[in-house]
Parts: sequence; C-alpha cells; structure tokens
Amino acid sequence: MAQQPAVDRAAFKQVIKLPALRVPTKACNDLMRKLRGFTFDLPKTKCIVHDGDRQDVRLLLLSQKVDPQAFSPELQAVLQQVEGWEVCSHDMQLDYQHFTADAVLRKLLPEGVEVPTSFESIGHIAHLNLRPEQLPHKALIGQVIMDKNPTIRTVVNKLGSIENEYRVFDMEVIAGDQAFETEVSQHGVRFRLDFSKVYWNSRLETEHARLVSSFQPGEVVADIMAGIGPFAVPAGKHGCKVYANDLNPESAKYLALNVQLNRVGAQVLPFNMDGRQFVRLLLATPGGPVPAAIPPGFRPPPGGVLFQHAVMNLPASAVEFLDAFRGAFDPASWAGRQLPLVHVYTFMKSETEADVITRVEAALGGKLDEPPSIHTVRDVAPNKLMLCVTFRVPQAVAFAGRQLSQQQQEQQQQQQETQGPAPAPATHAAEGSPAAKKPRT
Ligand SMILES: C[S@@+](CC[C@H](N)C(=O)[O-])C[C@H]1O[C@@H](n2cnc3c(N)ncnc32)[C@H](O)[C@@H]1O
Repeated sequence: MAQQPAVDRAAFKQVIKLPALRVPTKACNDLMRKLRGFTFDLPKTKCIVHDGDRQDVRLLLLSQKVDPQAFSPELQAVLQQVEGWEVCSHDMQLDYQHFTADAVLRKLLPEGVEVPTSFESIGHIAHLNLRPEQLPHKALIGQVIMDKNPTIRTVVNKLGSIENEYRVFDMEVIAGDQAFETEVSQHGVRFRLDFSKVYWNSRLETEHARLVSSFQPGEVVADIMAGIGPFAVPAGKHGCKVYANDLNPESAKYLALNVQLNRVGAQVLPFNMDGRQFVRLLLATPGGPVPAAIPPGFRPPPGGVLFQHAVMNLPASAVEFLDAFRGAFDPASWAGRQLPLVHVYTFMKSETEADVITRVEAALGGKLDEPPSIHTVRDVAPNKLMLCVTFRVPQAVAFAGRQLSQQQQEQQQQQQETQGPAPAPATHAAEGSPAAKKPRT
C-alpha cells in the first residue's frame, strides 16, 4: 500500500486575528484569572503578550470567538475596575508546534479516515491498533504521535491478534527507532521489558494493585504465569514471599532482572517452566517432575511449599491448568491448614457466571466447597469480560487419591468447619498469623 509522505509542517503556518484587551501591565495577571474561560488557550502559546515596545501595557488575548463588547454585566463590571483598558486585536503567528496531534491528524487525514483516539504507552513505546482504513497513513500517524509526545521514541502497530502461547503479538514499527526494550514504572515499582518478546499490558495496572493489596505481608504466593513480574515484584515489596514462574524464557529473564532492579531478591524467586509442572514442583507432589530449570539453591521442602495464594493470569487458558491441584497436596503437611486461595483469570463470552464456575469445577475435577468471589477486571471487547475468580482449593480436590490417616481426616473435618464463608482475598489468614499456625502432623 502506498505510504503517506512525512508531515507537511509548512501547511500549519498561518496568522489568526484574535480579539484582545490592552490593559495596564500591573492589572494584567489579575484580569486574566477573572476572565478564565474567555482567554486564548492553545499549547505552547501565552495569552499575555507585549504590545510593541511599550512597558506600561500588555495585551490580554481572548479566544477567537469571544466578543468583549458582548460580555455579561458581571464581566463588564470586572473590566470597569481596571483603569484605561481598551479593546484591540492581535495577529497571532501559528505553526505546527501549536496544534495537538488530534488537530494535525484531523487536517491531514483524508475525509472518512478516523483519527486514532488513543494509544497505550509502554515507556518510550507507543502501541497502536490501527484499523484497515488507517493503514495507508500509518507513517504519517506514527510521525505525528512522535512529534507531539516528547517521551515517545518508537511507535508500533499491532499485526494480527495474540494467538501464541507466550501472549506476545507481532508488531511493526511505523515511526522512530527499532528499540523494544523499555522501562515502565507502576506504583513505585520498576519493570524492564522487551515489548516485542514478552507480554505486557498497562491496562492491568489497577488489577495488579488490587490483588497484591489483598495479600498480607508474610504470606506466601505462587505466581504461576508471572510474566515479567507485575504481581510478583510488588507482592515481594509488600512483604510476601513469592515463587514466580513463567514459561517464556524471555519473561523469566526480565522477571529475574526486575527482581534485582527492585531489590526483592530475598522475597521473590523466579522460575522458568510450565505452570502445571511448577505447581507440582512447589507442592512436592510424588511423581511430579524435577525439571532442569529449577533455580539454584531451591529444593522444595519435604511435603512442599505451604503457600496461601496461587495467581494464574493466563485468561485464555488458565482454568485448564487447575487440574494441576488435583491430588497434589501432601496430606501430612496440609491437614489442619487452610488450603490456598486460587485467583484464576478467565474470559467470559456468551456465558453466565454459573457457566464459569462449572468450567472451574470441571477442570478441578470436583465441586468448590464455597461459592467463589468473581471480580470483573475489564471489558476486553464487546461481550467479552476478563474476570478474576477467587476460591479456596477444595479439600476433596487437594487430597484426591491420597491416603489420609484417621487423625488427618479429623483435622481436615475440623478445618472445614472453621473455614467460614466464601473466600475474600483480603481477609485470608497470613502465614504466621494465628489462623495459619495450626500444628503440622
Ligand atoms: C496474560 S500473560 C500475564 C503475565 C502477568 N501475570 C501479567 O499480569 O502481566 C500470561 C503469561 O503466561 C505465560 N504462559 C503461557 N503458557 C504458560 C504455561 N504453560 N506455563 C506458565 N506460564 C505460561 C506467558 O508467557 C505469559 O507471560
């Protein structure tokens, strides 16, 4: 497709005649405040300018359509308090720098081609999702976005939809440098990432903060599809011990880097393996895999890691991974303890919440002990919601196929009776808190 030429900046040079008030210099700032809403307002311009060489007066510029002769009685009264004011006009020289990206594109794009309204920024990268009719103009659109956003050095357009395992999409640079490594800051946490190689979505910032704030300092978290660490690293900063895993070696690499950048090496341990294997490794499930990619120095304790939360943010398929919990828990280690809360993300499309719960139970291979809490994260597309389903691993699922002693059965029964109603993430007992400190058998 033919590409648009670079932006024709000269097309924006023009002189506009503005109504103005000539007022004594000393009265000018006060009058400007009182006439707010009527004064000239354009990026990179001032509404108070010199009047030739005169020092005793200034020109207060008004918006193009304002007629000072037709001011309301209240505004007339404000003006009457200023001595020696008069109405005049001023020729304002405008050029490219004075126009917003939206105004420039509205002028340069052909009629019928919609101006892109927004983009996601990831550090120095602007990420667009252009429509087919905008594609012939992608170079122009990219250039204008760079010109008007000084922190942007690379503009990319998404090609196709995300279908691969690592949730990374193909992209093309439509303006600026081929530089995909960047840094983002969220709630005081730094994340370095290569946008062309790992999953990142700035729109999940609120969700990351919501879930992390529901964890208690001291709790242990298993982040099974951790990406570059937007749950894991803040949770580590929050005082949690986090076992964080991602299958994508590039994500695992940046996860480890972000752990260092944010000095949470004592709190967050990164892994690079399949999520199912990771669950069974942490829980020391007999017959579970012992993959080569276990971080040096990590040996699951006998009976497994006792974690309070499992985070599974791979909405397209995380529910299918729930089978990893079935029969994975060591009865001796977990009897009498609260089983973990699982926070599994999923999409809901032409389904009811009851359908979603049925899917969760089918993947677990057993009924939930209590109704889950379901949080709507965001509208992904018309009729497609992203949800976070929070539930406690059911006892029958956790210990399925495992032999429980008489004493373990009694403890389990007791635990079930004291567990209380539906799980609410923020009220879950911390490891080390009285509710979590049940004796191990
Ligand atoms: C939607 S992203 C979420 C990443 C991160 N938790 C976040 O909130 O930004 C899903 C992640 O799951 C990872 N993933 C895909 N398949 C996986 C698997 N079988 N085991 C572990 N991680 C997997 C992808 O590489 C990707 O980083």
